Amino acid sequence: MPVRPAVARDADLLWRVLLEAYNWSGEQRFSAGQLAADPYAARYLVGWPREGDFGVVAETDAGEPVGAAWARYLTADEPGYGFVAPDVPELTLGVLPGHRGRGHGRALMEALIRAAAQGPATCLSLSVEDGNPAARLYTSLGFTRAGRNGGSDTMVLALRTL
Ligand SMILES: CC(C)(COP(=O)(O)OP(=O)(O)OC[C@H]1O[C@@H](n2cnc3c(N)ncnc32)[C@H](O)[C@@H]1OP(=O)(O)O)[C@@H](O)C(=O)NCCC(=O)NCCS
Repeated sequence: MPVRPAVARDADLLWRVLLEAYNWSGEQRFSAGQLAADPYAARYLVGWPREGDFGVVAETDAGEPVGAAWARYLTADEPGYGFVAPDVPELTLGVLPGHRGRGHGRALMEALIRAAAQGPATCLSLSVEDGNPAARLYTSLGFTRAGRNGGSDTMVLALRTL
């Protein structure tokens, strides 16, 4: 299950993954154009990679990118949906349709958590909408509910040295 660090040239892939995360239910609630024009969504990716950003990309054995997870420090003035504190990076995760259910999501999360544990953050956060089965993945990795934002849970993971 190859996973590598995300770099600047992965920006297009990360935008595709952000779109998948926004449209997680399968309903096309957002188009790529709407997402790119949405200032709230842009907070997760504009300027990638910004100082402090870190991420990972999953590839097939043939080297085709099929998913990504990344995390970014956000601010109380311009928070993400899962904002907890400015020193807690918020992560985004997605695997492209047609490649799900094969372990890429779990491998991405494990790699991202390892990367986070090597940095200064003591905690990771995320937001998961009610009904998204991704919550089971997060819970199995140790994330716990830390709050609510609209129809979503904010979840956090305390990082420890692996
Ligand atoms: C969530 C997502 C990244 C999981 O990636 P994946 O490669 O399909 O996940 P994996 O094959 O590694 O499975 C990991 C776990 O996810 C859980 N899971 C995730 N989506 C699931 C679904 N639709 N149905 C059932 N279980 C699901 C399972 O509990 C599975 O557990 P297991 O490892 O014990 O089998 C992927 O389904 C996706 O991109 N969904 C749309 C975008 C999204 O929801 N992003 C997260 C927003 S918070």
